[in-house]
Amino acid sequence: MARITAGVTSSHIPLIGRVIDTDQTDTPYWKPVFEGYEWTKEWLRKEPPDVIFLVYNDHASAFDMRIIPTFAIGCAERFPPADEGYGPRPVPVIEGAPDLAWHIAQSVIEQDFDLTIINEMALDHGLTVPLSLMFGQPKAWPCRIIPFAVNVVVYPVPSGRRCYKLGQAIRKAVQSFDEDLNVQVWGTGGMSHQIQGKRAGLINKAWDKRFLDRLADKPEELAEIEHVEYIREAGAEGIELVMWLIMRGALGAGVKELHRHYHVPASNTAVGHMVLEAGSG
Ligand code: DHB
Ligand code: FE
Repeated sequence: MARITAGVTSSHIPLIGRVIDTDQTDTPYWKPVFEGYEWTKEWLRKEPPDVIFLVYNDHASAFDMRIIPTFAIGCAERFPPADEGYGPRPVPVIEGAPDLAWHIAQSVIEQDFDLTIINEMALDHGLTVPLSLMFGQPKAWPCRIIPFAVNVVVYPVPSGRRCYKLGQAIRKAVQSFDEDLNVQVWGTGGMSHQIQGKRAGLINKAWDKRFLDRLADKPEELAEIEHVEYIREAGAEGIELVMWLIMRGALGAGVKELHRHYHVPASNTAVGHMVLEAGSG
């Protein structure tokens, strides 16, 4: 059977993609950002997944005001990187895992979550920047990826509680897939940041730390955080953190923190990154 072995979270700041693509990762400003991913790169080389279920949000690249799916699962064979205004990033095409993706769609919909099934979609920095942070600049990504897009851009957006429960449903779905696969679940976005308006540049280190501290052991507490708290404490875009709760819900009980990285500043935001070993059961 397929099994979920680990979870990875990471901010997905678009400027990081640009810095990687133009070989500026060693500059004094950026070096400490990338150093925090070295542990993970090594760990991924030793324990490569077959498939990553990658929870991210689209930033008006594949979707816009015409279509706003709350939860969208990518079931295609492959997905191109999106053109976000400066041309697509020079990164490999993302190979999907259609059989597993359709299985998850069926199982999760039968568990009463409404997913939108997407068979054609371009993927923006929300997904490609974490891949570059974790895998560098390979000719091809080393595993297959199921993109799972969450609307955290246009209100109404889903609650943290619903995201956490959705993660639990995804866990059941993966565990009922009849193929021996090592599956990781990633959650991207966050941490505190606001990129427009009077509070642009907002960073709340204390609040971020409390979030990181509770992710492994006290996810139920995090699931109770209301939208208004994310916005007040973590800035308008801090709401992206609900996607980490989908990842966390998919890891089960008895989760172990393997690695943590937190750094300010990076562009307008705080960088947060964690690796969690999945629980049993
Ligand atoms: C920025 C954009 C994002 O989508 C994000 O998650 C963090 C930062 C930015 O434009 O700086
Ligand atoms: Fe974002």
